[in-house]
Amino acid sequence: MTDLIERLKTVVGPAGWTTSAGGLEPHLTEWRGVVFGKTPIMVAPDTTEKVAQILRACADAGVAVVAQGGNTGMCAGAVPDESGDQILLSLSRLNRIRNVDAINFSIEVDAGCVLESVQDAARDAGRYFPLSLGAEGSCQIGGNLATNAGGINVLRYGTARALVLGLEVVLADGTVLSSLRSLRKDTAGYDLKQLFIGSEGTLGIITAATLRLFPDPGEMATALVAVQRSGDAVCLLANLRHSLADRIESFELVSARIFGLVEKHIAGCALPFVEHHPWYVLMDVATGGDAEVLEAALMSAAGEDLLSDAIIAKNAGEAEKLWRMRHSIGEAERQEGASLKHDISVPISRMQEFLERGDNMLQKLAPDALLLAFGHVGDGNLHYNVQLPDGLADAERAAAGERVTVGIYDLVAELGGSFSAEHGVGRLKKPYLERYRGGAEIGLMRQLKALLDPDNILNPGKVI
Ligand code: FAD
Ligand code: MLT
Ligand code: ZN
Repeated sequence: MTDLIERLKTVVGPAGWTTSAGGLEPHLTEWRGVVFGKTPIMVAPDTTEKVAQILRACADAGVAVVAQGGNTGMCAGAVPDESGDQILLSLSRLNRIRNVDAINFSIEVDAGCVLESVQDAARDAGRYFPLSLGAEGSCQIGGNLATNAGGINVLRYGTARALVLGLEVVLADGTVLSSLRSLRKDTAGYDLKQLFIGSEGTLGIITAATLRLFPDPGEMATALVAVQRSGDAVCLLANLRHSLADRIESFELVSARIFGLVEKHIAGCALPFVEHHPWYVLMDVATGGDAEVLEAALMSAAGEDLLSDAIIAKNAGEAEKLWRMRHSIGEAERQEGASLKHDISVPISRMQEFLERGDNMLQKLAPDALLLAFGHVGDGNLHYNVQLPDGLADAERAAAGERVTVGIYDLVAELGGSFSAEHGVGRLKKPYLERYRGGAEIGLMRQLKALLDPDNILNPGKVI
């Protein structure tokens, strides 16, 4: 290990490594503070060639490498294990916007670019990059692609995967695989880049990407809509999609309890309604120059009893306040304390059934637990989180947690859904992959892992 560490220091130079406890500490704790790791060194290369040299050195030494972007992941995928034998590879210094091609509606970026800087670069060129999530000020595009991130605009633009035209990846043996093409159409053989999107650092290290850009969607109208039952949100969405077609950019469901946590923990956040409502939908609609379009659609939905109240933001400041409440949910939930996170998806047509059966099941399995539900209901992805009551002994808490989690995941599977919709599998959800993706699917995943990483040095212990 000592020889390897010296070799790595030479590769990255004095500004590119850290071994101090203080320098490492933020990189060894998972975002929610539930998992801690160890490492002898964190290396932060600033070129793809240096990433390749690091992987060659680690492959020669048979030492594992854990890639880390912004370390905002929710499944402890970016943190090394407790052995102290894994090298931490930070992509944060590989952060250049390489090229914006406005005519081709594409942008080529290093993997370590913070998501917000990619959005800004697109905007500066008069274009739009739609991936957007609460962590956008610190997560990196490489991490977004490695987790196939979702966020608030999937309904209209798809997940991170749908935004990728080309990828540059360093393989476990240090080979640089470059498919940084910027083509919409390309049927020349297998689409290799897809293998690495969503692979969470277990098949290769993403060093750059060519991403799709879109025309600026223009003026946006934002509404906060109150509904009586969570299932009403699904009917409301179907109704609004009829009247607004693909103008709906985002459609987020949030329970009153969740907004209560935001009001409690995040300064300056307050719901604009006087009356209490059990559920809310926060939505953005591209007006296409017709300022009244959202109000007219909501009035018509109200006529069909699909909503109980609605507030349309009068200006950008009001809209920003509402979205700040939505984007603060993760932070508010973290401050409230540990909850069981279930990042699930079901076909939208079965969402109402999931919500009803989920409620009944929770009441049976854990009657004193609190449901903390919110999410991207427009694309079928809900964060169906559960807070167990205080005062349980550790073993009792673990058993109750497992009962609830398996109950929810079984229901999701029965409805044709996924136990992991947008946060990835990482370390925390690894045990469930086998249960819910068994048979030929997991068999082929294992074969791919063995082919691309025969010595198991890329993020071992995660995903598979
Ligand atoms: P990290 O956490 O650093 O890494 C995540 C995984 O990817 C790890 O397995 C890591 O090894 C691997 N990895 C990172 N970089 C690379 C690379 N260059 N090459 C190969 N592997 C790599 N997620 C959503 O999908 N939707 C949301 O709406 C959303 N909202 C969030 C809100 C908040 C407040 C927070 C804290 C998180 C949220 N997340 C959300 C989760 C998280 O932001 C995303 O998963 C994000 O894509 C992770 O990016 P990152 O750069 O922080 O990756
Ligand atoms: C969100 O939608 O806010 C995120 O995925 C983060 C979370 O689940 O806490
Ligand atoms: Zn989410």
